[in-house]
Amino acid sequence: MTIKSLLFVPGDSEKKLAKAAGTGADVLLLDLEDSVSHERLPQARGLVLDYLKAHDRAHQQVWVRINPLNTDLSLPDLVAVMPGKPDGIMLPKPMNAEAVRQLDHFLSALEQREGIALGHTRILPVATEVAGAMFQLDSYAGSSARLAGLTWGAEDLATDIGATSNKKDDGEFDDAFVLARTLCLLAATHAGVQAIDTLTVDFRNHAGLQADVRRARRQGFSGKLAIHPDQVAIINDGFTATAEELQHAQRIVDAFAQSNGAGALQLDGKMIDKPHLTQALRLLATRKGD
Ligand code: COA
Ligand code: MG
Repeated sequence: MTIKSLLFVPGDSEKKLAKAAGTGADVLLLDLEDSVSHERLPQARGLVLDYLKAHDRAHQQVWVRINPLNTDLSLPDLVAVMPGKPDGIMLPKPMNAEAVRQLDHFLSALEQREGIALGHTRILPVATEVAGAMFQLDSYAGSSARLAGLTWGAEDLATDIGATSNKKDDGEFDDAFVLARTLCLLAATHAGVQAIDTLTVDFRNHAGLQADVRRARRQGFSGKLAIHPDQVAIINDGFTATAEELQHAQRIVDAFAQSNGAGALQLDGKMIDKPHLTQALRLLATRKGD
């Protein structure tokens, strides 16, 4: 299943946890990392476990963002939440796929302990949060069958670099962050998993989010992180093929079906060949929920 929207929910906020289920997000990402203070972490672990146990997963997955593996918080996070059988774990600040392999081992052990089917728990690394990770993004290919996608982060990368902002004066991401985004997209493709765009922090600007989603989808991302309930429907809509797009895709498929085996044709005065057919078939498949 393609995941379109993933909504962060601070793990220590009973109010936001209560609100989260009604948002329509494909994935709720219960956070134990950056949105939770050290003092409140033990309480947050308990709330997250309770939530995992109580939440009906028929229409919505529940994932947990743990603390980075190179901190002493990550194993207690995992041990605390695995009895709730999370659908996946978001892995922040990995340097490379070695962190995914390590997490894969921890999950296998904990799945065994909890009587969960081996391999059930998926992994989503936030692959560009430290500068050094940018040079090792090819490492994710083949790292683990649990790998669900790759996403990228602009906030922690700015902190790591020492940049005072990740944006230029015109509000667009600056060079290092555009590079991170592009490398994440290419690395996800290389690994055969979903590329998931980072969050839009400006959560009251709905038109801006719509534009971000449109661009992300055009570029090849198939989902996006959210931080506020209002962002979810915009993201879900934006990553859903429109009726016009589906019609156009069907016309391409029909044109090839009637072409007597020709490899290149014209449609509305434009050349179409094999890559267009592949894309059209892929788009039509999303309608069937593939
Ligand atoms: N998940 C669930 N509910 C949320 C939510 C979220 N991420 N963000 C806001 N809400 C709830 C609010 O509690 C409020 O509920 P109410 O109607 O019962 O009062 C409602 O949605 C409207 O929220 P609003 O007042 O517009 O925003 P806010 O000022 O309460 O919160 C943020 C703004 C940014 C602090 C909040 O959206 C948030 O915590 N986002 C997630 C942050 C996070 O997880 N960061 C880590 C990843 S980078
Ligand atoms: Mg962070």
